[in-house]
Amino acid sequence: MCGIVGAVAQRDVSPVLLEGLKRLEYRGYDSAGLAVTNHDNQLQRIRVQGKVNELHKEHEASPLSGGTGIAHTRWATHGKPNVSNAHPHICRDQVALVHNGIIENHEQLREQQSASGFEFKSETDTEVVVNAVYEALQSNPDLLHAVFDTTKQLHGAYALGVINSADPERLIAAKNGSPLVIGIGIGEYFIASDVFALLPVTQQFIFLEDGDIADITRDKLTIYNSELEIVDRPLNVSELNADVADKAGYRHYMLKEIFSQPNAIAESLENRVIDGQVITNEFGQDADSIFSQVKSVKIAACGTSYHAGLIAAYWMEEIAKIPCHVEIASEYRYRKSVVTDDTLFVSISQSGETADTLAALQLAKQSGFLSTLAICNVGESSLTRESDLVFLTHAGPEIGVASTKAFTTQLVALFLMVIAIAKHNNLSTEDENTFVKQLESLPGRVNQLLHHKEEIETMAKDFADKHHALFLGRGSFLPIAMEGALKLKEISYIHAEAYAAGELKHGPLALVDDDMPVVAVAPNNNLLEKLKSNLQEVKARGGKLYLFADKESDVESTEGVYVINLNVVYDFMAPILHTIPLQLLAYYVAVIKGADIDQPRNLAKSVTVE
Ligand code: M6R
Repeated sequence: MCGIVGAVAQRDVSPVLLEGLKRLEYRGYDSAGLAVTNHDNQLQRIRVQGKVNELHKEHEASPLSGGTGIAHTRWATHGKPNVSNAHPHICRDQVALVHNGIIENHEQLREQQSASGFEFKSETDTEVVVNAVYEALQSNPDLLHAVFDTTKQLHGAYALGVINSADPERLIAAKNGSPLVIGIGIGEYFIASDVFALLPVTQQFIFLEDGDIADITRDKLTIYNSELEIVDRPLNVSELNADVADKAGYRHYMLKEIFSQPNAIAESLENRVIDGQVITNEFGQDADSIFSQVKSVKIAACGTSYHAGLIAAYWMEEIAKIPCHVEIASEYRYRKSVVTDDTLFVSISQSGETADTLAALQLAKQSGFLSTLAICNVGESSLTRESDLVFLTHAGPEIGVASTKAFTTQLVALFLMVIAIAKHNNLSTEDENTFVKQLESLPGRVNQLLHHKEEIETMAKDFADKHHALFLGRGSFLPIAMEGALKLKEISYIHAEAYAAGELKHGPLALVDDDMPVVAVAPNNNLLEKLKSNLQEVKARGGKLYLFADKESDVESTEGVYVINLNVVYDFMAPILHTIPLQLLAYYVAVIKGADIDQPRNLAKSVTVE
């Protein structure tokens, strides 16, 4: 999604802005731009369609220099990804503005502004905002008030950075529904969509809240709420350092993140399990009392996080014996559902900024749930700030758009949650100890699975010329098949669908021929024999099977059946373990196809618009 960087400093801010944009690339974008007020108090701007590297080249050719500036990476929503739609947008050479979010009433504002003589140079929803600021400045030349008045006209989500060449040492930032953080330097201030963008220049941050407007000069920061009252927002000191975003010698962030899973899982377990027991307080001080009242669980999430929720439902019903219902957040938020006051609402999100998941949480908070719990990888995110209970996965920053370590650590967090709730529903200490041992065995077992890398790389060659693939699983391995299909489609652009293996003969079998690879997850569990029968149905139709089987599953490669026997012994951790080879398969297929693995086309890391 769009990324914002801004700065007010004594030094030339262009290098800070360009570096900030580079560090926001992982969010996904298709054009980029930068505007600076130069030493003659004139606005200068460069914009490109494509990558930040292109912006760097343009900047080298005709450098901008000045102490106040804003920059942006745009992920197109309204209007094509081209230069005229790229931000910053400028009105009458005086006001420049960057925006993340969607202005829902832009058409109505556009009509009004056209009638008052504004000419539009882009197809974006953003241009009405910069025009509105300019218009407001005509009656009151104070930029803070102009932005404040403008926000009152806007419906929708926004994070804004605004500069004015007539007031050259000032930057106004506003937030409502899209993330925005202020970085505090020495005699300089910055704004950005997330802290990574600013780590080279500061470790100190203030997270704006919805409705906030910040008035920023070199030596002063004042934050106002939506009533224009001065408010205090807490200062956060980040423990991340600037090189968290480096590839550590791996070819792609995604590969680095796949290989960092043993460590990410170990970090996510540290201090959460002690002496064979789950430390419930890690979910929040009131967790014990809340968990003791839980009679059912509702989970809402998107994409990969939704798949994690689906697996948790199997665990919740089998281990805690508590009903658990999982919904896609973008569906849940618009559905009229029945809520009981003994139901725990759980949201899952890597970023904690996914607009649909946040909206689902906001709806849940008004709907009479027992309590809300967020499972999230980003501490100071909107989701964690708005939830009663919080469990942070300690996966570390995930840069690749395709979620890998965030997913496996979410599963760890969800398994801990299931045990913590099950303890109040007759889970024996002995069983708890067994489950904790299984969790503690994960880092080592994941590490062993990574050794299948070469075999999977070889298997991947069979997929490179395919246009479609089917993924099959049963029980808690169906969501793993769904996740495998999602990984393959998002980074290799091969159309992939997942089905419950038993559903095959109810329709998808019609698709099977010798050009359709069928990937199946074959754990050694009570459904293995059923799965084998389903696979025979594929084989009989000439379909080529690719099986990831536990070593005790007793399946061998034969004509048309390509088996990788994994070093997995079946237990509750098996869904987590079976994820690893599917991540590697998607990765190597995408490598062979030469795809842009870390920033797949059309996708964004943090989906902050609806
Ligand atoms: O940050 P979130 O976990 O809320 O993101 C949800 C989805 O956008 C995300 O999982 C997406 O599906 C990934 N790109 C999948 O790899």
